[in-house]
Amino acid sequence: MKDIIQSLNILKKEKNAVVLAHIYQQPEIHDIADFIGDSLELSRKASRTKEEIIVFCGVNFMAETASILNPQKKVLIPDMQAVCPMADMVNVEKLKEFKSRFRNPIVISYVNTSATVKAESDICCTSSNAINVVRSVVRDLGNNIDIIFTPDRNLGGYIQKVSGIKMNIWNGFCPTHNNFILPEYVKTIKNRYLKAEILAHPECRPEVVDLADYVLSTGGMCKHAKESSCKEFIICTETGILYKLQKDNPDKKFYAATSLAVCPNMKKITLAKIYDALVNIKNIVSVPDNIRQKAYTPISKMLEINA
Ligand code: 13P
Ligand code: SF4
Repeated sequence: MKDIIQSLNILKKEKNAVVLAHIYQQPEIHDIADFIGDSLELSRKASRTKEEIIVFCGVNFMAETASILNPQKKVLIPDMQAVCPMADMVNVEKLKEFKSRFRNPIVISYVNTSATVKAESDICCTSSNAINVVRSVVRDLGNNIDIIFTPDRNLGGYIQKVSGIKMNIWNGFCPTHNNFILPEYVKTIKNRYLKAEILAHPECRPEVVDLADYVLSTGGMCKHAKESSCKEFIICTETGILYKLQKDNPDKKFYAATSLAVCPNMKKITLAKIYDALVNIKNIVSVPDNIRQKAYTPISKMLEINA
């Protein structure tokens, strides 16, 4: 392990590369990453990197977003099979068909979508800025519009509930959050740790979100855990976040709502694959230019809005 970490650090300098990693990545990847963040933080970071190569440790829509923002750079994903099943629940043909049912719909797409779906969207959002994005659309265009929100029904339902803004919500979901983080698990663990705050990601099903003290993106959870005076937290999201939470807050305790909440795609990235991608400059993420240009607009509109 020590050898590969040393070799990677040398290689990063030689190739003028930066390693960006999502919070759900494995501990050893947190330890070698130059920057760790949630989807929004990673998009912002990707738009500002100086290095010629970005090694993106996450799933494919995140690496695609980095590539759309940096067409002149090489974006490498260490494992091309690291996909997001929720992003694949919407495709451009089905989206176009759904759009045709409305007169002038505005499409708000979660960043967990393919570049082709983004290219058919008006604005993107992540879990940390979604409410502000939807409010900004209504502020600019008024109430009398048809909003289509893709693909996460749980995030969409949560935004609708908090903002009171009616949307036409796609029926997608994250298998890790929706199928494995169940309200009965959260209640059981809360009964054991009565003083713990419950933090839930908005991709969780509504019955879980209803139990939460705070509904936050992964980056929001990391920030909240540092700032809160509370010493114990029940975490309702993918378990990879626990390593960072514990490392950043050694005096606090974090309990996963369930150890079953694992995103198998996030875990496909390994140190050996990062090394291989960088040494051989392989697994370059490429987005066709016509799609890239169209997808750039909704992403950059999102980046103009505060989280
Ligand atoms: P964040 O935007 O909170 O990082 O979420 C991304 C994601 O894929 C959650 O499953
Ligand atoms: Fe996609 Fe869910 Fe994995 Fe996030 S945790 S990347 S939404 S499958």
